[in-house]
Amino acid sequence: MRTYLVTGGAGFIGSNYIHYMFKKYDNDIRIINVDALTYAGNLENLKGVEGRDNYTFVKADICDKEAIAKIFAENDIDRVVHFAAESHVDRSIRNPEVFVQTNVLGTAVMLNCAKAAWELEDGTFKEGKKFLHVSTDEVYGSLPDDENAFFYETTPYDPHSPYSASKASSDMLVKAYMDTYKFPANITNCSNNYGPYQFPEKLIPLIINNALQGKKLPVYGDGKNVRDWLFVEDHAKAIDMVQEKGRLFETYNVGGHNEKQNIEIIHIILDTLQEMLPEGDPRKAHVTEQLITYVEDRKGHDRRYAIAPDKIKAEIGWEPETMFKEGIRKTIQWFFENEDWMKNVTSGDYQKYYNDMYKN
Ligand code: NAD
Ligand code: TYD
Repeated sequence: MRTYLVTGGAGFIGSNYIHYMFKKYDNDIRIINVDALTYAGNLENLKGVEGRDNYTFVKADICDKEAIAKIFAENDIDRVVHFAAESHVDRSIRNPEVFVQTNVLGTAVMLNCAKAAWELEDGTFKEGKKFLHVSTDEVYGSLPDDENAFFYETTPYDPHSPYSASKASSDMLVKAYMDTYKFPANITNCSNNYGPYQFPEKLIPLIINNALQGKKLPVYGDGKNVRDWLFVEDHAKAIDMVQEKGRLFETYNVGGHNEKQNIEIIHIILDTLQEMLPEGDPRKAHVTEQLITYVEDRKGHDRRYAIAPDKIKAEIGWEPETMFKEGIRKTIQWFFENEDWMKNVTSGDYQKYYNDMYKN
């Protein structure tokens, strides 16, 4: 049975990936999830899989060499899928150091431990071992307002925020391991994800949550920055397909071909909430454009991201399956059905951060 070591599996994409993998492979795989449970890590995301014999959770920091080496020593790990990271651009602008710590140094620890566990005496690696580094399209910088401009795997790195700079650094480390040691790895650079379990500091869950509560909907700058939105399950599928069918040492860009201005996203969410809230629900009265509030722009705000997923489609046959209209309905339905989840994450630390960030 193949054993996966998933880092950051209690976060948004990692938990969706774990659900996806158990749905697909059921008892044919084993997953060890290592997560430090920062503000973004939430074990409630994994309620459905806890109790499985083929699932183990280990609370550990990926920067903790001994803890990570111990996991490799005690288990014959076949695949690493490395999600763990600090992931929010606004937080990186306020506090860059922890991004360097987790995203760069943490990735170095993961690479070192996997290399030590998998390397043979002659410097080659044990058969079938693979490391997948989950990264972002933000490493490529910002595109102009031109709908024919896209990020390709060959686009030079040009990160702007401390978040994207730290992810670019971690990508470079993975590339260095592949080039220097022929370390068996892949990198995926994916566009913005949305879906169940996303922490409500990111645009889509923040807007859904605020609108339902009748709170202001903060739009940075002119609201015309463009992001390329992908339903999270499609990302989980892409990661699995890259490990199954991708060529080792390659980078694959993953994107939804679904570029939208932030203000468009907000209008779609408001319209969809209106459609989905039942007649007579008191929230129908306040879920309106009146809530939209333009606020100060993000520092260094990247204008436009757009992925050309040509390579992953041609080589692996992956394509986004969930149209945005359907994905946003599924996401909203999930938030309707999981009000307690939202209540729990919006209390405590997140609330303090939120008040500080949006005090104006
Ligand atoms: P997230 O913030 O929701 O989750 C991150 C997880 O990592 C949390 O469970 C957290 O507890 C854990 N973590 C953080 N620091 C850790 C540490 N030092 N040791 C162990 N665990 C730690 O992030 P996400 O949105 O799920 O993103 C996951 C990965 O995907 C990240 O590497 C991110 O750069 C990448 N990515 C995200 C998006 C997106 O739209 N969210 C798009 C492309 C790529
Ligand atoms: P975000 O979800 O933080 O993802 P990223 O910055 O990694 O792309 O933001 C998506 C876009 O939405 C980005 O252009 C910033 C904008 N935004 C707002 O306008 N208001 C908000 O409250 C947030 C969180 C983001």
